[in-house]
Amino acid sequence: VDMQIDIVSVFPEYFDVLNLSLFGKAQSKGLVSVHAHNLRDWTHDVHHSVDDTPVGGGAGMVMKPEVWAECLDDLLGLEPQDMSANDDADSTAAPAETDGAAQETAASDALQDAQSGNDLRTPVHTPDSVLIFPNPSAPLFTQRDATELSHAKRLVFGCGRYEGYDARIPAYYRAQGVDVREYSIGDYVLNGGEVAVSVMLEAITRLLPGFMGNPESIVEESYTGSEALLEHRQYTRPAVWRGMGVPDVLLSGDHGKVDRFRRDEALARTDAIRPDLIEQLDCARLSKADRKT
Ligand code: ADE
Repeated sequence: VDMQIDIVSVFPEYFDVLNLSLFGKAQSKGLVSVHAHNLRDWTHDVHHSVDDTPVGGGAGMVMKPEVWAECLDDLLGLEPQDMSANDDADSTAAPAETDGAAQETAASDALQDAQSGNDLRTPVHTPDSVLIFPNPSAPLFTQRDATELSHAKRLVFGCGRYEGYDARIPAYYRAQGVDVREYSIGDYVLNGGEVAVSVMLEAITRLLPGFMGNPESIVEESYTGSEALLEHRQYTRPAVWRGMGVPDVLLSGDHGKVDRFRRDEALARTDAIRPDLIEQLDCARLSKADRKT
């Protein structure tokens, strides 16, 4: 199997759909293997409790570190460590800012690497095993992250529920040398990590060679390559439908003109809809014709 994926959740049935459709096929082709685990299997109390009230007060519940650690130690093959002898480990406060900064440095390194090549599958660096926690208060998950993670041999996703998970969980595994990532999938709040994991999983696995029926279809789409532009609009036959025509240039058969038309539309639409993506463009890489647009 090219990529082994483990998902930990209190709702593992949520991931039953992964046995269907493209993902099911990818599993039978041996491209990926996915196992969804129930976090409660690592509890020892009669109530199988996985959460507790927040230290410092406040509403809601926070996922306990002990249960997560028993589970993740098992999945990652690690022995429990006492961090009290460790200078860097502050047992009461996980270094959240430092963690975020470290992740962002890695992300911006990856970004620079990615910008030096055009290839969608250029390995920015090849992570072996990565532990990923969806978290609405984390850096945004982008196509660049999906590309990088599509080169990993093993991904372990931890789905948080309720008001979140104890911050020492990612901090502890980072301190054990594990490549730990926390990602938000967008500026909105979901009830838990399951939907976010499904989104990330699909974005990552569809990049695996052999996953898609037509690999060409992922080369030209939005957010890929070194440039993140919105895609031009698409049309199919008939050329006139309910009195609405398609742009004439697309019927001209002149591939040069078609390419220029699509490129102009991509630039103009990105500028109108996502000006933030235009800001991020490396203007030095734009052609003269691009700049005119
Ligand atoms: N959990 C809850 N909301 C989330 C979001 N927007 N991204 C990732 N994980 C989440």
